[in-house]
Amino acid sequence: MNWKALRNNHYPVMRSRDLNTTPVSRKLLGTSIVLFRAQGGKVAAFLDRCPHRGARLSEGSVCKNGNIRCPYHGWAFDAEGRCTSIPSAAKEKPMSFPSMVLSCFEKEGAIFVSLEREGSRVSNPWHTPDWEHSDFLLENRVKADFRYVLENFVDAAHTAWVHTGLFRSKAKNLVEASITHLEDGGVRISTTGEKQNPSLLARLFGMTEGEVFHQDLYAPPCSVVVDYQFGKQKVRSISVCTPENESETRIFTKVYHSRQENPLFHRIKNRLTKEITQLVLKQDKKILEEQHEGIAEFGEKGFAATESDAPVMHVHKAIQNLLRGNKGLSGKEVRVKYYL
Ligand code: FES
Ligand SMILES: [Fe+2]
Repeated sequence: MNWKALRNNHYPVMRSRDLNTTPVSRKLLGTSIVLFRAQGGKVAAFLDRCPHRGARLSEGSVCKNGNIRCPYHGWAFDAEGRCTSIPSAAKEKPMSFPSMVLSCFEKEGAIFVSLEREGSRVSNPWHTPDWEHSDFLLENRVKADFRYVLENFVDAAHTAWVHTGLFRSKAKNLVEASITHLEDGGVRISTTGEKQNPSLLARLFGMTEGEVFHQDLYAPPCSVVVDYQFGKQKVRSISVCTPENESETRIFTKVYHSRQENPLFHRIKNRLTKEITQLVLKQDKKILEEQHEGIAEFGEKGFAATESDAPVMHVHKAIQNLLRGNKGLSGKEVRVKYYL
């Protein structure tokens, strides 16, 4: 995979609450990185290679002063990459390794890292809504190519099959989708004609009658934002599919839902939505890993498609354009009909 087009971005790599007193190793775009909490709890991210002899810093420890110590000869480094201790040296000389330091920040429960020092800081990486909400964050790891994982999130046709009864039932509505390529290389899919169906999530949100507002957005490079609205109720989910390497992807899913008048009911709903979303993601993981194995064995050439695959195909095209450094299809719009 040519990761060049993806490097200049920050990606969530782990949840904030999972980084405590020991270093944690992660992969990002095929590169091994290490994360730790430096002085004052500030998060730091390095390339996972000790500048002394190449050992894995992630196998080391974090000292009381927040420096990271290599397990091989005990050299220690501060958050800026300055070497602060060489236990075996009779005479220490000042050394600094700024090139191993990566750009990183924490935002709403996750740690974001870029492999490029100039990596653009995303202003609103979670697409946080401006309405009052509660939210939760889930982390899952899938043995599959990030492109297929992203495409799964705009693939409405699978939901009644993979998530039967949980997310969608097999009730059939003829819907119309308007697919628009945006200036930033993203793709917006607005679906009209979607009716309520008797799934568990639909019941939980009181989606029992009337039409639903539904919009999916592929936000480059690796996010899909899904919005639902029915009456006053709003739900937004954002899934960031961080590529670890060509065959592994870490999915960070944040779900926002609008506040209820009754706080107890609101808390219960938040809890239940979290459990159901995790179940849905587990079902996606299973099918995506099976698909990944199928593609690894037989290849991906010659797939058949119908109009109901249009959202997936258009997002696929947008991702390919991004990876190849091609201009997007900004302004292009198509309309398709299918059953949901
Ligand atoms: S390899 Fe890290 S201290 Fe020697
Ligand atoms: Fe799914």
